[in-house]
Amino acid sequence: MARTVRLVPALLASVLTLAGCGGGVHGTPGGSGVRDPYFPKAGNGGYDVAHYALRLTYAPDAHHLTGTATVTARATQDLSAFNLDFEGLEVERVTVGGETARWNRAGQELTVRPHADIDRDDTFHVTVRYSGAPETVTDPDGSREGWLRTADGALALGEPTGSMTWFPGNHHPSDKAAYDVTVSVPQGLRAVSNGELRSERTARGRTTYRWHTGEPMASYLATLAIGRFDISHSRTPDGLPVYTAVDPAEAAASRPVLGRIPEVLRWAEKRFGPYPFSSTGAIVDRAADLGYALETQNRPVFPGAPDLTLLVHELAHQWYGDSVSPKSWRDMWLNEGFATYAEWLWEEDHGGKSAQETFDALYSGDSSDTEEAAESVWAFPPADPPSAARISEAPVYWRGAMVLQKVRQVVGDEKFWRILKGWAAAYRHGNADTADFTAYVEKQAPGEDFEGIWEDWLYGEGKPERP
Ligand code: TRP
Ligand code: ZN
Repeated sequence: MARTVRLVPALLASVLTLAGCGGGVHGTPGGSGVRDPYFPKAGNGGYDVAHYALRLTYAPDAHHLTGTATVTARATQDLSAFNLDFEGLEVERVTVGGETARWNRAGQELTVRPHADIDRDDTFHVTVRYSGAPETVTDPDGSREGWLRTADGALALGEPTGSMTWFPGNHHPSDKAAYDVTVSVPQGLRAVSNGELRSERTARGRTTYRWHTGEPMASYLATLAIGRFDISHSRTPDGLPVYTAVDPAEAAASRPVLGRIPEVLRWAEKRFGPYPFSSTGAIVDRAADLGYALETQNRPVFPGAPDLTLLVHELAHQWYGDSVSPKSWRDMWLNEGFATYAEWLWEEDHGGKSAQETFDALYSGDSSDTEEAAESVWAFPPADPPSAARISEAPVYWRGAMVLQKVRQVVGDEKFWRILKGWAAAYRHGNADTADFTAYVEKQAPGEDFEGIWEDWLYGEGKPERP
């Protein structure tokens, strides 16, 4: 027996040598997912994207998108093949390092087989040319994302997986990258994306907009709004560029609240630390049935004129979610709990209820404006949603915020402010998970015992016994 067992590795090695003979074949295929607990096919293994260059042309009347995506990535293993996430549309050509590559598709997986293997640590460029009618996708929770048509154009939104409907990539929040997005639309329409507008040129009846995002961005935060917009272009007193694009039908209602972006950011910087990006703004656009706002990087998207609380929520996400991004979709409460807590803090800092009062009302279930939350908030632990369909439910938002209030109760205000800022600084432009958070808090307050809070409030089923 022992001999047979010892023979197996030798046999395997010789088979591998045979397979590899004759030409430096040494790589293996990268994974088709990154083992996200809720979206196992999202993302891909074997490489790390540094930059996306997207050149897009859209014809709203024909609902036709033409694209060339050039993805610059570093191999994290020797690669014989790798996957990109890409849904719908038609792939016309794929090159790697300028050479035609073989490819095939199965569902959302586009598998690319380069002409030659890629060595670990090498940087490579993959270009995908594609076209077709981009799709809207329905999430496990029933909300719509991906490419949404509007009366005068389109709106692309990507939480959690919709960005793969308009460009191929490593569509998981754990792989953040810089972006250059160039979009050509019929003259008279505008294209608005993340980051800063680098140029705008009209020729032969088409206008081309070039947008640049220098800071790392998770692909679910990428956006593109095409249509007619009222544009406002200004700077905060600190010199941060503010670019807002508003559907003309929503302009009058939006103007007063969007005018408060500088004021909200000044307050947020005081509470959360330096603003993490090189520009800000907002997009207000009407897509049918779009019932939610999204914290798209630099420039959140609103489905209509937002109220001040929603503006505070989406701007707070720029620190918590956009700069400090979740490692997996299980860590959603680090986005939504913090953004909800920001709403509570804004109220506390502006003469309203204290965060403790909001917490108490939720705990006792006697708050009228949070009635719905009061019932559903105990449905599951925020750090462990039961399924993909429930990652944006009440426990992730409200009970997540309650976790932060519990920490504040233990450490006191001064240390709590340091933790809010310190967390944003420690993981700035990176990724974090729940274990990173609990470890961070414990390190900031070494004398305190948080075990009970983590057990009852973060990971425990049901309503914790003590508020
Ligand atoms: N992140 C959005 C917000 O709270 C809400 C949202 C939109 C969402 N789509 C989602 C949350 C998909 C989870 C999954 O501002
Ligand atoms: Zn949110």
